[in-house]
Order: sequence, then C-alpha cells, then structure tokens
Amino acid sequence: MVWIRKEVDLTMPLTKSISINMPIIGANMDTVTREKMMNVLSLEGCFGFIDRNCSIEDEAARVKYVKTQHSFVIENPIVLYKKATVKEAKSVIKKKGVSGILLEDEPGKRVLAGILSHRDVLRSDEKDSHLVQEFMTPFKELVTAKPGISIGEAEKIMFRNRIEKLPLIDKKRRIKGLITMKDLRLAKQKPYSNKDKKGRLLAGAAIGASGDFMDRAEALIRAGADCLLMDVAHADSDVIKKAFKNFKSKFKGIPIVCGNVATGGGAKFLMELGADAIKVGVGPGRGCRTRLEVGAGVPQMQAIREAYLVTNGKIPIIADGGVKNDKDIFVAIAAGASTVMLGSMLSGTDESPGFITDDPVTKQRIKIYRGMTSPEAMADNSTLDNLEEALSTPQEGQSVKVPYVGSVVGVINRISGHLRSAVSYAGEKSLYDAHKKIAQNPEDFLIRLSLASQKESFDR
Ligand code: XMP
Repeated sequence: MVWIRKEVDLTMPLTKSISINMPIIGANMDTVTREKMMNVLSLEGCFGFIDRNCSIEDEAARVKYVKTQHSFVIENPIVLYKKATVKEAKSVIKKKGVSGILLEDEPGKRVLAGILSHRDVLRSDEKDSHLVQEFMTPFKELVTAKPGISIGEAEKIMFRNRIEKLPLIDKKRRIKGLITMKDLRLAKQKPYSNKDKKGRLLAGAAIGASGDFMDRAEALIRAGADCLLMDVAHADSDVIKKAFKNFKSKFKGIPIVCGNVATGGGAKFLMELGADAIKVGVGPGRGCRTRLEVGAGVPQMQAIREAYLVTNGKIPIIADGGVKNDKDIFVAIAAGASTVMLGSMLSGTDESPGFITDDPVTKQRIKIYRGMTSPEAMADNSTLDNLEEALSTPQEGQSVKVPYVGSVVGVINRISGHLRSAVSYAGEKSLYDAHKKIAQNPEDFLIRLSLASQKESFDR
C-alpha cells in the first residue's frame, strides 16, 4: 500500500513523555543551537538543546527567550510606566522584540493606563524626551477582557474590534495577562509546532555531570526548560551514575535525556539508571576527530542497532551525529532511533550562531561549524585563568566551513519531504509505523551493499 506523501505523519517520541512532530533535534553546540535556532526548530515541529558552553545565566536567559516568544496567554507581559520617555520605550521595544507595550498608572503597580504600539513610537520621531503617555491609546479607549477568557472568545472579540492586543485585567484594572493576534495567527498557521500546555514553544537545554551542573539544572528548569540533556563524551561511567542520581533526587518530573553512549552495554546502563531517552553516537560527527586521534567510537549504524536491541523499543534513542544526506536520517530511524540530532546540517543557516562570510578562495558564502572540543571552541569557552590548560588538553574536534544555506526552515522542509517519501516507499502512513516495522526486522528490509552497489547507489 502506498500512502499519499503529504499526509504521512512524522511524529516520534523524544522522551518517554514528550512527542515531537518532526524527528529532528538541534545539537547542543555553540555553532548550532542557541535561542534563535531553538525557537524556529520548535515552531517547525522539531526540537533542540541549547548548549551549555556559557554561563548559567546566559543559558537560562536563552531558554527564557524561547519560552516567552509565543503563548496562548502571555502571563507576565512587559509593562512600562506611562511617564517613561519615548526613548526608553523604543529601547524596550527593540530589546524585547515586541510590537507594543502595556503602560501602567504608577510604577510597579501594574494598573493598566493604556497601550503604546510601535507605530505610536514611530509617530513620535524626533521626540525621544517626551513621555509615552502623550502617544498611548488610553485605557478608556481600550477593549479588555477578564483573565480566564477562552481563546475562541478572545479571538472573536479581537476580530470584532479589529484589535491586535487584548489585555486581561481584574476588577481593579490590574494587568493579569495579554493575548495577541500574532500568537493566535501563528498557532493556526503552524499547528505542528511543539508547544506546552500553555501554548509556549518547547525548549531543551544541556547540562554537564560535574561542577555546577545542579545549579545550572535548577536555573534552566526555573527558566522553563521542558527537557534537559545530561551530555558528556562518555556516559557509560560512574560520573554519570552519581550525577544522574543527584539530579533525580532533586528534580522530579522533568524529563532528562542522557548521553552519549555507543554500545549495547552503555544503552542498557542508561536505561536502567532511569534516563527518559538516550543519546547514541561516539565519533561520527562532522566536527569530531575522536575516531582519528583516539581510536574510540563505534560505526553509527552499529551503535544505533546495539542500543535498540538492548533497549527493545522501551526507551527513545536519539541518534547523534554523522548525518550527511537526508536519507541518513531515515536509515537511522529504520535501524532503531526515534529521533536524529543534527549539527553540521543545521549550522549553515540564518538561525545558527555566527557570521556569514565570503570564502576568499571559492567566493562562496559560508559559516563556520566547529566541534565543541576544537581548539577554537575550547579557547572561546575558557577564561583567561584556564586558557592555557584548555589549549594544552589534546583536542578531539575541528572547525570546518559550511555553505550558507539561508533559513533553517528550508532545510527542515526539505528533510520532512524526503522523510515522507521514504515512509511512503516503506508502505506505511507514519514514520513511527515504518520505524517499528523495520527496526524489529531490518534484515527483511535493508539491503547490504557491496562496493559495486554502493557505487551504483551513490556515485553521481
Ligand atoms: P554532525 O555530524 O551532525 O554531528 O555535525 C553533531 C554531533 O557531533 C558531536 N560533537 C563532537 N564530537 N568532538 C567529538 O568527538 C567534538 O569536538 C564534537 N563536537 C560535537 C556531538 O555529539 C554533536 O551532536
């Protein structure tokens, strides 16, 4: 049976308790997943983990950014005193990326005085020292609603009154929330976004297993992280065992992914420890030199297979690293992974951190992608005090140039199209069904390629 491609469902489990609508995970690397990437990945139905190579405050702020970009109801909207200057309002609008601000009567009291839109601010050009109250729409002209209003009702009111923002206030005019047409529109345009119960985009973030990792975890959870990743190079270790137990004894109910492992034994260890998903891959990454310099690692297909056979589908597996073509994603999922983590494939985009430059030799537009243990990443992420020590540690990562490819949305659309095709060729209507069918009996579906058939398949 061949199913209609565009109707193929790509939902897969990220952890035991979280499903995502597209099985792509942004790697926790400082040239891949920070707030901009995390935001768009969640909007497009994917997921990611913000990297931990920064201060706890910075990582938590990045999580908070994602959690406050969209929601059904903004519970704590930005509020400015009505006697603030236009200059102050402009700065807040720019910094927070909002199109308007609620104004309060008295500082800190959150009693609604009016709304200032960015258009009002533009109107006030050359008048930076004036007070915003001169340009606001005052309370008596505003349409407001009570907290607890349903989304459908709010939409009707906003449509009827042709307004973009609906402040929610109590009987004493105190601000209790804000609903925006932009958020409602986005929810309709992108029903496949990954959201929490409040309509906020899902956000993931990485922690380590030593040093300040418990403080980091606490700050990230407070900032609203939906899932954490305890990420170390070799997770089949006593360090992880101790750290994981500490984590679980303090933070109940927050899903935690653990990695990386590359053997059946490692996967079993993490499953028995109680991880909510396991991340598999040692050495296949584009920015990685571990196999070359150290000789450690397992070919990625074998690592995924071993992990799947030992865990028997009881726990989701994230296949991490080594994806060069879109077909590798389907093959990893067919072999037993639930989702696939991408580094280099997402790194040449607008949403990845870093600059677009012109390659002086090829004149191509490029970005830099680097392994987290490359000399460049190690130097950037060290303080002056430990720089020498960091650079004298043998490195297992490298920097590479990647072509600039525009928005990550284009990359995701291409991958999702190819995945849907692959599922259709597999004769199933969902990726999950194809994964279950093939992973249980890969010998029936996957074909071992001789050198000649590899040539026939891939030489073009
Ligand atoms: P891809 O192939 O998608 O791989 O670019 C992303 C994954 O590579 C891993 N990674 C590293 N591995 N040394 C390593 O051995 C490094 O410096 C390094 N940096 C990243 C990581 O698992 C990532 O998700």
